[in-house]
Amino acid sequence: MQPQDHFWSKAARYYEREFVDPYRKDVRNNPLKKTLHRLRNPDTGVVADLGCGIGPLLPFLARRFKTVHAIDFAAGMLERAGERVGNHANVKLHQASFLDLRAVPEPVDVAVAVNSLVLPNPAELESALREIKRILKPEGVFLGIVPAIDAVHYYTMLLVDRALGSGQPIEFARKNASHHCEHDSYDFAFGQFRFRGLEQHFWQPFEVAHRFRRAGFVLKRLKKVHLSWKQFAFGKELGEHEPPWDWFFFAKAA
Ligand SMILES: C[S@@+](CC[C@H](N)C(=O)[O-])C[C@H]1O[C@@H](n2cnc3c(N)ncnc32)[C@H](O)[C@@H]1O
Repeated sequence: MQPQDHFWSKAARYYEREFVDPYRKDVRNNPLKKTLHRLRNPDTGVVADLGCGIGPLLPFLARRFKTVHAIDFAAGMLERAGERVGNHANVKLHQASFLDLRAVPEPVDVAVAVNSLVLPNPAELESALREIKRILKPEGVFLGIVPAIDAVHYYTMLLVDRALGSGQPIEFARKNASHHCEHDSYDFAFGQFRFRGLEQHFWQPFEVAHRFRRAGFVLKRLKKVHLSWKQFAFGKELGEHEPPWDWFFFAKAA
């Protein structure tokens, strides 16, 4: 089997088309940028964008921190990130896995990971968390967003109710929900999502608290970031309900 960085590199080509975007203007109550702005320190601050992808956050970070270390293990992602930050001399790109962050040349004040803590093996996920903690300064903070498996259950529930409400039998309601929520791509028991060779872990909220504690973090805040209904089938009809979410977290070293 090809390693995951290979599939992430390929994903760089179709990223905007296929991935839900937590930075959209109509994403409500996303505390990420506000929190990063509060933590800014253009004189001495060092930030690491872990799993920077095609670099949507990098120009924002470059204006608020002295040095930005943009880390990703996928060459295709770093190539696109590099094009985006061409005129920001304080952004340094590093090709590295979260399992070995020795490429980051200095301790960081802030580590941020947006939808990149998705390593499929939980043992590696915890090793990655420990490695992230290792590169933090003692007073450093770690924040970001993880994809939510509980939000897929929620969206499934709304779709089932919608079909039942329009008089469809339960068998049809379930089949329809399963199709639109792409249940074939999920393993709900283990919180795994498989798509075009990528295997990603999606999180339960209790799991964030559990794994962060085991890796030596104190979880200070865990909050739903409601996504845009525009990125979901039947979003218009379901608009009276809260949209599905990802989980925002803010943590410090224990
Ligand atoms: C869903 S994308 C998110 C990208 C970016 N943070 C954003 O918000 O658009 C996940 C990114 O994390 C990177 N990634 C996933 N697992 C990684 C790992 N173990 N080590 C380094 N990068 C990883 C992928 O290559 C990909 O660019």
